[in-house]
This record gives sequence, structure tokens and C-alpha cells, in this order.
Amino acid sequence: VRVNGSAQSRTPLPHTVAPGQCWTGSVQVWFKRQPGMCEWTFSLEQKADERGAEVIAERLALRIEIEPESPGATSAALKISRRANAWFYWPSQGVHRSRDGHAYPLFIKRAKGCRITDPEGVEWIDYVMGWGSALLGYAHPEIEQAIGAELSSGAILSLPHELEMRVTAQLCDMIPCAETVLFGKNGSDVCTAAIRIARVHTGRRKVLFTGYHGWQDWYAEALEPAIAPAIGTQTAYRFRPNDFDDFSALLAQHAGEVAAVILEPAAQVEGVDGLVADADRGFLAKLSKTCRDQGIVLIHAVILILHAISGLPTACVDHC
Ligand SMILES: Cc1ncc(COP(=O)(O)O)c(C=O)c1O
Repeated sequence: VRVNGSAQSRTPLPHTVAPGQCWTGSVQVWFKRQPGMCEWTFSLEQKADERGAEVIAERLALRIEIEPESPGATSAALKISRRANAWFYWPSQGVHRSRDGHAYPLFIKRAKGCRITDPEGVEWIDYVMGWGSALLGYAHPEIEQAIGAELSSGAILSLPHELEMRVTAQLCDMIPCAETVLFGKNGSDVCTAAIRIARVHTGRRKVLFTGYHGWQDWYAEALEPAIAPAIGTQTAYRFRPNDFDDFSALLAQHAGEVAAVILEPAAQVEGVDGLVADADRGFLAKLSKTCRDQGIVLIHAVILILHAISGLPTACVDHC
């Protein structure tokens, strides 16, 4: 993407796009806002060498009028975010694509049920619902009341609350294969706990994965090698979901070194453009047998409230 002729942003295609196939992408463009007309050009390029790229598709040119920023709560919040953490608050991060190009609100003031209200008081329906974590709706009265009641019990963090044991028993009753429960404060923490347990248990280090497992180092290093402790020390490797041949080839490559295989057995979110689907039962069964045979810990990462939405017990428990 060029703005007034100078290159501003570039994004790689997420996968091979065959002739005639469609791909919907989003590109983040970071440029100094100057009210008035400007020209944006979009082109598809093929990398020729380290220094240059060759244009392989016609440029699309658009004349865009940038309006002066209107003062208000959103604009004030945006100003702070640009100054203090431009990357994190980049408006198109997170839920970053409306397929029709419609703009989403940048900041939120409150939420109730499925409705969210932006700082200017405009109400929106939120179909994302915290990536599924707010399945019962935001600020659900019964949940708020229950949390409020426990908050005022003055929880002491150094000692377990008796409620933890009641929830533990409930989880073990609900999930037939659950024998042990460990609480964490988010998905990244619990996935990391599972990987650490697998490494200690097997004495091996490598992890084969598919799907998304948070932002801690063991996983993030596969996406960004600079995060690995030293060059060439990568330990996490991705296989394609529901592709047992791809998994087997990867396993053969790292034979005898794999501590854990981790995947999302239900409602997997694979990449930006990819699949959102349950794992194939036949695939899960083969994976489970292979892991058992080779003493590898198989981790089913089920972060969403899947009991309600995808029949977690039968799909995953059969192959635990
Ligand atoms: C399968 C899976 N693992 C891990 C995570 C990370 O969870 P969190 O963002 O709570 O750290 C997510 C979050 O979407 C997830 O879907």
C-alpha cells in the first residue's frame, strides 16, 4: 500500500492463493494524519530478491479524503493510545476484519447482554462476545451477583478459597476424564502449565501443535523465532489440523524428542483466514493412539466454554 506514492505497508498472503481463488485480506497502514485529499494505491507484488519486488497485479488507486479528527472521548483515548502503545491499540488489531469494510468502534464504555456502547454513546450488537468467553452476555445479573458476593468475602490469595474445591469437584463430575484440576487466570497460563507438566513428565522438550495457544514463549517462538532463547533452539512446530500425514511427517522429523502434542479439538481457530471447526474424530483417534504408543502427552486445549457450544465431552473425552 502506498500513500501519495510512498510505500506505507505490506502484508504477506496467508497461504497460497490459486488462480481464480479469492482472498480477503486486511492491511494496516500507519501514516501521519493530514486532513485533505490523498491518493492510496494498492498492488500485489512478488518478492524478487532481498532488495525489491516486482508488481504482478494492476494497481488500484483511490482518492481518499481525510477528515479532521472530531474531538470527543474516542479521539482523546486514541491520542493516548497512539502516544503510549500504538501497536497494541492499533484499531484494526483484535477483531480486525469486517468483510464489508465497515468500521468497528475503537473503544468501549460499557457492555450489557450482547450490546456494547462506545464512548460517544452509540450502541452496537457484539457478535464476537469476547471470543466466546462472554457466552452468557456481558454483565449478566446472576453472574455479577455471584462475583459480587464472593468479592465481598475478602478472598485471601495465599490460601485457597473453599469454593475452589467445590468447583474442582464439579468439573471432575462434569468431565468424565478429569482427575485433577489446576486453576489459571487465562488460557495462555493453563496451556503453558500443561506444556511444563508434559516436559517434566517425559524429560523431552519439543512440542507439536496446531491452533492457537496464547502468547507465552514456548508457543510464540514458533511464530517469531526471535523469542526463542537462542538462535536455532526452537522447540515448537506446527502441523496442519486434521491432517494425520502432515502430523506423522513432523513427528518422524522429531522422533524421540517430542514431549507434547497440543491442539484445539473443538471450534479450532486456525490462522486468520482459515478453518473454524471441530477436529475430525478419526484424526483425534489416530493422534491419541500414536501419542499413547510413543509416551507423548496429548493436550486438548479447550479454552472457550465449549460444554455449551460444541458437545465437548463426547468429541474430546473419547480420545483423552
Ligand atoms: C485454544 C486457545 N488457547 C489459548 C488461548 C489464550 O488464552 P488467553 O488469551 O486467555 O491467554 C486462547 C485464546 O483465544 C485459545 O483459544
